[in-house]
Amino acid sequence: MFELKPIVAADKAAAYRELETQLRALLTGERDFIANAANTAALLYHTVPGLNWAGFYRLVGGVLILGPFQGKPACVRIPMGRGTCGTAAELRTTVRVADCRAFPGHIPCDPASNSELVVPLLQDGRLHGVLDLDSPVRNRFDAADQAGLERLAAVFTAATEW
Ligand code: SME
Repeated sequence: MFELKPIVAADKAAAYRELETQLRALLTGERDFIANAANTAALLYHTVPGLNWAGFYRLVGGVLILGPFQGKPACVRIPMGRGTCGTAAELRTTVRVADCRAFPGHIPCDPASNSELVVPLLQDGRLHGVLDLDSPVRNRFDAADQAGLERLAAVFTAATEW
């Protein structure tokens, strides 16, 4: 059985390295999207401090469709270019939102969310979906969080059959 370990590192870069070790162990021997996405969302939700939502949207037929997540029920379909997720998908770049209410077109799924980080999931130039993290804390995600979560997203994408 996989045992979730509390993160003990003092700084964020080291904390994300600890998380990467746990994520690699969690995904070893499995390539199924639903299994890997469900376990990755659970790992992030329970180890990254200050989250109220962590999960995936998968690109299917040009639309982002809700995948495995932890948190409250969320909107199911997000068109490309809409909201934080659709913007990250369309631009193929991470979108970091310090204040959700100030982001034009933000789609509020949980009114508790005040900041958000969305990482596009890319492999060999192909967009598969996005990893979305929400926090009730304003300005929760900084450059160190972005770098760490982009690394974890790359590990997830490489370990998974799309
Ligand atoms: N806020 C997102 C929608 C997804 S939820 O946060 C889970 C957006 O604007 O795309």
